[in-house]
Amino acid sequence: MSKNIRIIFGSSTGNTERAAGRIAGELGGNAVNVAQAGADDFNADLLILGTSTWGCGELQDDWINGLPLLENADLKGKKVAFFGLGDSSGFGDTFLNAMGELHEKAVRRGAEVVGKWSAEGYSHVMSAAQEGDSFVGLALDDDNEPELTPDRIDRWCDQLKKEAGL
Ligand SMILES: Cc1cc2nc3c(=O)[nH]c(=O)nc-3n(C[C@H](O)[C@H](O)[C@H](O)COP(=O)(O)O)c2cc1C
Repeated sequence: MSKNIRIIFGSSTGNTERAAGRIAGELGGNAVNVAQAGADDFNADLLILGTSTWGCGELQDDWINGLPLLENADLKGKKVAFFGLGDSSGFGDTFLNAMGELHEKAVRRGAEVVGKWSAEGYSHVMSAAQEGDSFVGLALDDDNEPELTPDRIDRWCDQLKKEAGL
């Protein structure tokens, strides 16, 4: 039976939305803007949560709608992956912090995290989305290295297919 894949993203200038669209194309799931998401959207075999980081390490604005849904979702035994958009040069101390926040909340709800991503080759200083040598999810930087984004997404999707048994 085919697995139910749901991609939920928040995006202010379109970068995270574009990444969500490419991920949906690769994996065959639905991409939903978190501004329009409901509780049912958080119930999937593979849930993929995406956000850009704004302010000084804060969640993208539309996640105001999504956070209560995430905080009430039952993610026990559910596979959850994350992707984040940020600026490793201009905001090198808070690079992708919002992805770290989503990860923390999902883990608290029992999520089984898939799709961790090596931090090698990134030029940031600090990130709340990093644990040891890895990011908690796919790290994208369209401000400084947009040319790397499509290949990073495709490789990450291949990794997810294996880790989530798609
Ligand atoms: C005012 C402002 C604040 C930002 N703050 C951060 C930040 O703290 N950390 C980070 O990694 N990126 C930060 N960024 C970069 C954005 O996350 C990045 O441009 C992202 O690609 C935007 O994606 P979106 O269009 O999907 O919202 C900031 C950008 C702006 C303009």
